[in-house]
Amino acid sequence: MSQTPLTKVVIPAAGLGTRFLPATKALPKEMLPIVDTPTLQYIVEEAVAAGLKDLILIQGRGKSAIEDHFDVAFELETTLAARNKTKDVEALRRISSMVSVLSVRQKVPLGLGHAVLCAKSAVGNEPFGVMLGDDMVDGEDPCILQLWRVFQKHQKGVIALMEVPAEETSMYGIAAGDMLDERTMNITRIVEKPKKDAPSRMAVIGRYVLPPSIFEHLEKTERGVGGEIQLTDALARLMATEGLIGYRFTGTRYDAGDKLGYLKANIAYALKRPELRDGLMAFMGELTGAKK
Ligand code: G1P
Repeated sequence: MSQTPLTKVVIPAAGLGTRFLPATKALPKEMLPIVDTPTLQYIVEEAVAAGLKDLILIQGRGKSAIEDHFDVAFELETTLAARNKTKDVEALRRISSMVSVLSVRQKVPLGLGHAVLCAKSAVGNEPFGVMLGDDMVDGEDPCILQLWRVFQKHQKGVIALMEVPAEETSMYGIAAGDMLDERTMNITRIVEKPKKDAPSRMAVIGRYVLPPSIFEHLEKTERGVGGEIQLTDALARLMATEGLIGYRFTGTRYDAGDKLGYLKANIAYALKRPELRDGLMAFMGELTGAKK
């Protein structure tokens, strides 16, 4: 089955975004910008860089802004073209030509596992990626592509792992197992947001490459932490039947779902822009100098 290229990626975007209210009252949190680009677009660009072009967006209510963003904006393009803003027109066209988007409605917000299950018929019988919009991974080698290579080698589901401080293990899915090499773990335990006795400090980060059999496990998964159907619980079932691999990816991860992480991502991505870098550095110097 790994002979087919990886083309489909499921992006759950049905959350209410309560951590970013009031900004997210009318705007989906996936559309909050990092510098000038919605967080979701960075995720989509990572998918495109990895060759994934079929996006399956799992959406809740009132998320049409996301669909519009990846669609052709005829009026805007025409107006910009009339004003000779060719570069802006090209930038807009690039977004709409990047991917094909299929929207699936998650009718009830029953958690991440349930959101992924909503993609079952859209995915069909092939391996697929899952990318969570809150996790931004900056790096040369797209994180999802790193996982796909490992999937092809081991013929098992692969999830992204990152070491976190002990006091943060209760915020993540945590995996433990035997290291096959410096980066690859044969997972023997995985638990969602352990309140205590975390089996390790290796946290699950929002990138997964999964076999279609995960859907059978999701269908049997009962509500877990927070009363939600957890993807991690279905991964534990997958681990027990077919095995599951963890991969310590290369790249820098930002938690854009958290206010501090979001601000850090804005600063880090702005510093990569030549036109913003000097001004921002000078401003941060002034701020930190003023604090002393
Ligand atoms: C989800 C997953 C969790 C994972 C995390 C990564 O949790 O359930 O296993 O560690 O994403 O960001 P959430 O952050 O959506 O609560």
